[in-house]
Amino acid sequence: MIASLDPAAPADPAAPAAPALDPADPAFARDPYPYYARLREQGPAARVPLANGTYAWLVTGYERTRAVLADPRFSNVPPQGAGRPKGDSPAQRARACLARHMLNSDAPDHTRLRRLTTAAFAPRRVDALRPRIEELTAGLLREMAVRLRRDGSVDLVDAFAFPLPVLVVGEVLGVPEADRADLREWTYRVGSPADALEPGSVDEAWTGLYAYFTELIARKRRAPGSDLFSALTQDATEGGLDDGELLAMAFLLLFAGYETTMNLLASASLLLLTHPDELTAARRDPARWPAVIEETLRHASPLEGTTWRHTTEDVDLGEGVVIPAGASVLAVLAAANRDPRHFPEPDAFRPGRHMAGAGGTRPAPHAAFGHGPHFCVGSRLARLEATITLPRLLAAFPGLRLTADPAQLPYRPGLLVRGPRHVPVTTAPLPAPAVSA
Ligand code: HEM
Repeated sequence: MIASLDPAAPADPAAPAAPALDPADPAFARDPYPYYARLREQGPAARVPLANGTYAWLVTGYERTRAVLADPRFSNVPPQGAGRPKGDSPAQRARACLARHMLNSDAPDHTRLRRLTTAAFAPRRVDALRPRIEELTAGLLREMAVRLRRDGSVDLVDAFAFPLPVLVVGEVLGVPEADRADLREWTYRVGSPADALEPGSVDEAWTGLYAYFTELIARKRRAPGSDLFSALTQDATEGGLDDGELLAMAFLLLFAGYETTMNLLASASLLLLTHPDELTAARRDPARWPAVIEETLRHASPLEGTTWRHTTEDVDLGEGVVIPAGASVLAVLAAANRDPRHFPEPDAFRPGRHMAGAGGTRPAPHAAFGHGPHFCVGSRLARLEATITLPRLLAAFPGLRLTADPAQLPYRPGLLVRGPRHVPVTTAPLPAPAVSA
């Protein structure tokens, strides 16, 4: 997802604007929902000035978000020069090649790439990953227990929510276990701009990923394994994928698969630790776990907004709102999922709303996996990971509790991904209250 971070359209002083938005503001990152609620009340889309002096159109209602994501007049192809790496160096060239993936494409290119990917992600292939995900989870929980005994506390993001999805994507790509530490390190470096790492070490990670995936593709072509990526290297339908397309696909799977799932696991853990009744209910009745996961996806959408779209012509959204051709548009999934017209009491965390009601009725589906032609290819895998790992995490550490005020936890900045940067926990008993003499 990282490759689609994109600057907004240049300022157009003629159009009315909503209040300015600074995605880097820690208070906004922690709780953007009141701002989005105001935009939703204004109309189907709002033209928002960004802190960098540019403008973007934000769509925040549930129905309009789905309509925009299904409408071919909103293109996924980044406009010439926009959001592209600047300069010419091996790292920038690697970055540009890795960004030519299907999430940055429209039909008919997208249709062909998508067909091949959907075939590789067939349900039986995804479900076959279950035993490996169970093993990887058990390994991480063992390591976490050691760290808790040694240090007294751990950061759940660092010990669990980050490494697990990276290891699972390693399975999807068929990366040997010995190479996963490299993959994890490169992934961290290119995916953490807010950590202000040394530019040299980030460049090294881009070229490392490029070289690694080039070699991986050659290996899979020669000797395919049973992994999903091997299936993509071997599928010759419609001519199959060429090496450039496979390279970008490997990168897309890595980033689409890890950042999102990491935030799902981190947010679900945090929500459960701050809603002890829901945690107790899920521990008592395992049938509640899928509802906990759906409610986390809705309430704490791991992708705050989709990737940027660009209008190919003027688009009339109704209520007097026309988005001009060439505008940058963001469908804000986190806001759509809090639309009170679809989700009563949208700010409450209530897994029960996803359980069949009287007469088997179900609520509107959430939009956390997007909608339309780019709907998430990995939704089944993400749900599988969460339903395997979360119950095991909470069963392994019955006394797990937060060591920080949840209202003060820092969140990932930006409009693309959403989740807490740290979830510090311990299993140590609470200190005894001081007894006055
Ligand atoms: C909680 C976890 C996840 C969430 C919330 C999520 C969400 C999304 C969303 C919203 C989109 C559409 C973006 C857009 O329209 O701009 C998307 C696309 C995609 N996702 Fe996921 N995703 C998750 C996990 C995964 C996993 C585990 C994989 C695979 C390993 C994956 C692979 C993809 C791919 C390849 C696309 C591009 C589809 C296309 O362009 O047709 N995702 N995801």
